[in-house]
Amino acid sequence: MLINFFSLLLKLHMATSLKEFHFLIILCLLFIHFSLAQDGNQFIYNGFQGANLHLDGIAKIHPNGLLQLTNTSKQQMGHAFYRIPLSFNTYSSGLMTNLSFSTNFVFAMVPELPNLGGHGIAFTISPTMNFSHALQSQFFGIFNPSNWSLPANHVVAIELDTSMSIEFEDIDKNHVGVDVNSPKSIEAAPTSYFSDKERKNISLELISGNPMQLWIDYDEAEKTLNVTIAPVKIPKPNRPLLSTAIDLSQILLEYMYVGFSSSTGTFASDHYILGWSFNKSGQAQSLEISKLPSLPPQKRKKKSFKMILILPLAAAVVLIIVIGASYFIRSKKYEEVLEEWETEYGPHRFSYKNLYRATNGFKERELLGRGGFGKVYRGKLHNSNQQIAVKRVSHDSKQGMKEFVAEIASIGRLRHRNLVQLLGYCRRRGELLLVYDYMPNGSLDKFLFNNVKPNLNWFQRFRILKGVASALLYLHEEWEQVVLHRDVKASNVLLDADLNGRLGDFGLARLYDHGSNPQTTHVVGTLGYLAPELARTGKATTSTDVFAFGIFMLEVACGRRPTNLQGVREGVILLDWVLECWKGGAILDASDPKLEGNYLTKEMELVLKLGLLCSHPLPEMRPSMRQVLQYFDGDATLQEMQPDSLSINTSTESNEALQLVMSFGYSFGKYSAHSLSSNESILDKTR
Ligand SMILES: Nc1ncnc2c1ncn2[C@@H]1O[C@H](COP(=O)(O)OP(=O)(O)OP(=O)(O)O)[C@@H](O)[C@H]1O
Ligand SMILES: *[C@@H]1O[C@H](CO)[C@@H](O)[C@H](O)[C@H]1NC(C)=O
Ligand SMILES: *[C@@H]1O[C@H](CO)[C@@H](O)[C@H](O)[C@H]1NC(C)=O
Ligand SMILES: *[C@@H]1O[C@H](CO)[C@@H](O)[C@H](O)[C@H]1NC(C)=O
Ligand SMILES: *[C@@H]1O[C@H](CO)[C@@H](O)[C@H](O)[C@H]1NC(C)=O
Ligand SMILES: *[C@@H]1O[C@H](CO)[C@@H](O)[C@H](O)[C@H]1NC(C)=O
Ligand SMILES: *[C@@H]1O[C@H](CO)[C@@H](O)[C@H](O)[C@H]1NC(C)=O
Ligand SMILES: *[C@@H]1O[C@H](CO)[C@@H](O)[C@H](O)[C@H]1NC(C)=O
Ligand SMILES: [Mg+2]
Repeated sequence: MLINFFSLLLKLHMATSLKEFHFLIILCLLFIHFSLAQDGNQFIYNGFQGANLHLDGIAKIHPNGLLQLTNTSKQQMGHAFYRIPLSFNTYSSGLMTNLSFSTNFVFAMVPELPNLGGHGIAFTISPTMNFSHALQSQFFGIFNPSNWSLPANHVVAIELDTSMSIEFEDIDKNHVGVDVNSPKSIEAAPTSYFSDKERKNISLELISGNPMQLWIDYDEAEKTLNVTIAPVKIPKPNRPLLSTAIDLSQILLEYMYVGFSSSTGTFASDHYILGWSFNKSGQAQSLEISKLPSLPPQKRKKKSFKMILILPLAAAVVLIIVIGASYFIRSKKYEEVLEEWETEYGPHRFSYKNLYRATNGFKERELLGRGGFGKVYRGKLHNSNQQIAVKRVSHDSKQGMKEFVAEIASIGRLRHRNLVQLLGYCRRRGELLLVYDYMPNGSLDKFLFNNVKPNLNWFQRFRILKGVASALLYLHEEWEQVVLHRDVKASNVLLDADLNGRLGDFGLARLYDHGSNPQTTHVVGTLGYLAPELARTGKATTSTDVFAFGIFMLEVACGRRPTNLQGVREGVILLDWVLECWKGGAILDASDPKLEGNYLTKEMELVLKLGLLCSHPLPEMRPSMRQVLQYFDGDATLQEMQPDSLSINTSTESNEALQLVMSFGYSFGKYSAHSLSSNESILDKTR
């Protein structure tokens, strides 16, 4: 540059005509201006009129100073590099030069088709400006298929990628990535910025057509490269989008060119750079947004005069129809059934709209599981941020609904630390939604049987049993009415954040007044947990709950399902198997092998024997839940029992009951109120 300057002075000296003299003076002044403002190590362009750039491919500078790297022609590329190579990795006066740099630029990507753009822009630091062998699309106009991962490339690029290339393991089609010698990013993130005001990440769409600003900062001492992006009107966010640990001295050569490379593929966008500031000796100056060139107006189809008149009219009509339709669809979407008598249950009623929003529209992603009555979804109430579980139960009979909702409302008043709180309900046509407290650890069966969750140790299991027993005692004896659970089993015991057992699912529970005889209604419950007399008569009592609790105790101690005993014999039920172990003199053989013998023998024996006693075929032999708790707490000791005292009836009665159940209900694994009348008649006949 200095030589150029002197040769210019020489020319000036030799100038003869006045005209030429004037011209050269101006040129000379211009040169001085450039060498001061843009001494090679730093420059700022608020628009690119007269910029010292080397362009190739289809890149061009518009008269207003806008730099256009590509247009929407497919499979093209465009480059714009600062003409003068910068000294990056050299020794000067015995010291390694400082590789720190700071740059920011404003860009815009206007896709040819809405939402379909390609391929992107890359800020590039390269040892050469000769990209004649580079390819377009995913190679960004920098690399080619034969050399795209060679360390000899000595290229660092920050890509703004609007296409998802599987071969380079792109995360999406809207990301910012750091590329070293290869279009396969060493680090990438979906385009977003951290809003200091809202204190959260806000996503950006690269091909929105709106100008955005990108900042790239490399610090020699920290050896980190930070990349930050934001819409053009937002000042630089405090947190970078990418903060990549990288030692540029291992990659870059002595002299490097800096600039932009851009490519299009099967899909194409207009890629623009509006302004660029670069500095190797400090923080790059901010661009003056108001001075930046404007983008060309977005192309619109020419409209005839008629169209100008008709269009707004048609638009208005369409708008009215759309609003009307969406209102109709909305009201249909959130439709629910609300009857006069329900007003008294006000606090327990949820609007369908709220539940719909809480569960993100009952998305499959929020599905927690499905049971005999329907699906359960996770949700979050918008006003309180409370996490909930919503169970969708289908029902088709209007009959009994009133009674059922009355029960729910009173169940909602039950409070116990080992119960899953029922928060309320919502009714739609053909459907009832029950809202429960969300239990982060899910149901106990997953811990016991599926091997998907970690194993629970004996201490945790024993505490769960005690908790569930105290909940059942509360339901049976401690509340104002007797509440029968009717479906005690491992999948209805949920674990809270501290792995406390909580009894859930009162969907099936029915209430009985203290003292009065239980009505004989329907057989409800799950195969394997049904007391023999319940299968025969359909009468649920506290004793039938105790029976199910006994089976549940055996499940927890043995880590096995009540009916499907894998690894033992076919067709044997858990109850009989434990009994056999006891008869063989080794009841502890029945304990869960996953415990590896790590339990208190006394407690394990108690749980196994008490489980058998609770599941005694004769209801009058079963203890009450109060007694069960006394045994657990050591306030009472279990009488010496002989296994034979429990087995008298098992082979006949419980097996008979089981066979009965299997004959009509096995494929469902469950009885429900829906299949009622036929069940009852079958039961009556066989008796
Ligand atoms: N309150 C809750 N919090 C977290 N997860 C839950 C909650 N309620 C249910 N779940 C999950 O949803 C699954 C399905 O529950 P659901 O009660 O419908 O089926 P089930 O218990 O297997 O059978 P049943 O219909 O006899 O109750 C459960 O296994 C559990 O993992
Ligand atoms: C893109 O630019 C090239 C070179 O300037 C030109 O030949 C081509 O017609 C342009 N394409 C579009 C779609 O404008
Ligand atoms: C670019 O490099 C290729 C060889 O890789 C060479 O043939 C070509 O002449 C070079 N172009 C320029 C402008 O230097
Ligand atoms: C890889 O190809 C590009 C494009 O032709 C070229 O600029 C670069 O120098 C090549 N790198 C090596 C290491 O050959
Ligand atoms: C915001 O995004 C960054 C980068 O992707 C991520 O590391 C960070 O955890 C996100 N912060 C929040 C609050 O979501
Ligand atoms: C990069 O970002 C991190 C985290 O915000 C910050 O601590 C660090 O100083 C930044 N480095 C540079 C070179 O900007
Ligand atoms: C490198 O240069 C930057 C300015 O670009 C300066 O802030 C930093 O202190 C320098 N670091 C070293 C190690 O000299
Ligand atoms: C480069 O950094 C130096 C030191 O902070 C500053 O004085 C100068 O204005 C900056 N130049 C540009 C073009 O950003
Ligand atoms: Mg359940």
